Amino acid sequence: MDPGYFETMYAESADPWGFGERWYEHRKYAITLAALPRPHYRRAFEPGCSIGVLTAQLAARCDRIVATDVVPRALESARHRLEQDGVADRVELGRASLLDSWPPGTFDLVVLSEVLYYLTPGDLVTTLGRAVDSLEEGGTLLVVHWQHPVPEYPQTGRAVHEAIAATDGLDHAGSYRDEDFHLDVYTRGPVPSVAAAEGLN
Ligand SMILES: C[S@@+](CC[C@H](N)C(=O)[O-])C[C@H]1O[C@@H](n2cnc3c(N)ncnc32)[C@H](O)[C@@H]1O
Repeated sequence: MDPGYFETMYAESADPWGFGERWYEHRKYAITLAALPRPHYRRAFEPGCSIGVLTAQLAARCDRIVATDVVPRALESARHRLEQDGVADRVELGRASLLDSWPPGTFDLVVLSEVLYYLTPGDLVTTLGRAVDSLEEGGTLLVVHWQHPVPEYPQTGRAVHEAIAATDGLDHAGSYRDEDFHLDVYTRGPVPSVAAAEGLN
C-alpha cells in the first residue's frame, strides 16, 4: 500500500492501532515473545516496527535489532520509546519499505508482525523469498497477523499465512491461533524442538 496511507494515519494519531494501550495488543505481544523458541538472538530484523512497542520488548531478547518503517513520525516515536526503555543502543532504526532491498548480512530472527497484508500477492512472494535468504540456517521466522478482513488491505491475514505455509525453505515449528489472530513460527531448515535442545526428550 502507498506509504501516504500510513503517513495520514500517524498524522491523525501518534498510536493509530493503540499498541501502547490495548490489552489485545499487550496480550498478543506476550504470546509473540513466548512463542520464540530461543531465549536469545544475535541479530533480528523487524520491518514495519511502527512506534516500537514490540521492538522494545524484542530488544530484551536480542543483541541487535534492525527495525524499519515507512513513516518517519512512527520512527521518531519508536526512537523516543527505545531511549526511555534504555535499549536504544541495541536497535538500528531506519526508514525503509519491505519492498526495498533488505539490510545486508544475515539474521537469526525475522519478525513480520501485522505488516504482510499490505503487500500484493506478488510482492508477498518476493518478500518471503527475501526472508528465507536473510535467515541464517536454523534461524527463526515469526509471523503474526489479524485474521478479520480489512477492505482497504490488498490481502487478508488468512491468505498471508497460507502463502507462508507454501514457502520453500521453511520448517513449521509452532503456532497459536484464535478468532482474531494467527501466529506461526518457522525455522530455516529443521531445528530440534525447545525440549530436545535442552535434552528433555
Ligand atoms: C499495523 S502496524 C504493525 C506494527 C508492528 N509490527 C506491531 O506488530 O506492533 C503496520 C506498520 O507497518 C508499516 N508499513 C506499512 N507498509 C510497509 C512497508 N511496505 N514496509 C515497511 N513498513 C510498512 C506502517 O507504517 C505501520 O507502522
